[in-house]
Amino acid sequence: MTSRRLVLSRSAALIGAASTGLLLPEIARAQGAKVRVGLMLPYTGTFAQLGVAIENGVRMAIAEQGGKLGGREIDWFKVDDESDPSKGVENASKLVQRDKVDVLIGTVHSGVQMGIQKVARDSGVLTLIPNAGVHAATRALCAPNVFRTSFSNGQPTMALGKAMVDRGHKKAVWITWKYAAGDEAFEGFKESYTKAGGTIVKELGLPFPNVEFQALLTEIAALKPDAVACFFAGGGAAKFIRDYAAAGLKGKIPLYGSGFLTEGVLEAAGPAADGILTTLHYSDSLDTPRNKAFRLAYAKSFKQQPDVYAMQGYDTGLLLAQGANAVKGDLANKAALYKAMESATIDSPRGKWTMSRAHNPVQDIYLRQVEKGENKVIGVAAKALADPGTGCRMAAAA
Ligand code: PHB
Repeated sequence: MTSRRLVLSRSAALIGAASTGLLLPEIARAQGAKVRVGLMLPYTGTFAQLGVAIENGVRMAIAEQGGKLGGREIDWFKVDDESDPSKGVENASKLVQRDKVDVLIGTVHSGVQMGIQKVARDSGVLTLIPNAGVHAATRALCAPNVFRTSFSNGQPTMALGKAMVDRGHKKAVWITWKYAAGDEAFEGFKESYTKAGGTIVKELGLPFPNVEFQALLTEIAALKPDAVACFFAGGGAAKFIRDYAAAGLKGKIPLYGSGFLTEGVLEAAGPAADGILTTLHYSDSLDTPRNKAFRLAYAKSFKQQPDVYAMQGYDTGLLLAQGANAVKGDLANKAALYKAMESATIDSPRGKWTMSRAHNPVQDIYLRQVEKGENKVIGVAAKALADPGTGCRMAAAA
């Protein structure tokens, strides 16, 4: 056989093999095999219900795609990260090294996120952050393969200070859990409150996830500020709201917060939550067909009301599906996949949003007030707010 005929006959064999799906195992695997999706979320501890809401939201968005990503079926993998930063790298590595996931979705806690960020940067695995707001993830440690669908910790509180001063509250006490999320939420609050003419008379804190608030509430009563602003979330937030009222502060010193304070906790907090004003990138009562349809479908599927975490999980699923569809399921085509995700507009229950160059949402922040067990929207506190992305080289180069 001449070499030319050999080539031809080989090509014929190749074409035959391709048509029967036997050829080129990588391509076959990339486009035919199941997509391996890893969920690294808290399923125990003070943030347990946040993890569940996020998973529900992700699954709902994927179910709307017929349960597929870019036409491919999905294999799910799950790790409970316990909101324990000391196990962050180890847990993320379980999904990446052991389970060989194509996509890692996680997590809630900013300290744990730093472990995920390290594994994501070292491995290059596509990573979607469905909550944790730690600034570094979309600032100095930003990465082409990491996309956040939630917020940066300073974003919600950047809109809080002015709302407080507008209501005549010029002297405030700040209280939070002392870890990245609380400290960075304080950065946003401090900037917005002092710029609006307010003075922060005292910063109070306790270690995460401690809920012994009594001594600090006594201190607040003695300080007699015009208002209190805070960052708490999950089970700890419900307890803080109840303890604030039980200490006799409700009705005397108005309570404000980064909006997580009143997310997913209104039933547990009861009437103690009434009247609390917060700022956040979502509100239950957003009067749009998109939000109403989302809330109805979520309540039907999961027999409970969605909150900001469910919405963020849902948007994570939407972004992933949009990327996967753009490359027809070939997630190995990273350049095209990331480009599609970077330029996506997400038609979210929170309102439409886009990605900043550092891969953090550019979004509206709402002012909300708790009324009869619901976060009622009062207005837009900041329009199309972007995180500055300070130190992200991707942002500078783009
Ligand atoms: C965080 O640790 O980044 C965090 C946790 C819970 C929230 C918001 C931020 O509700």
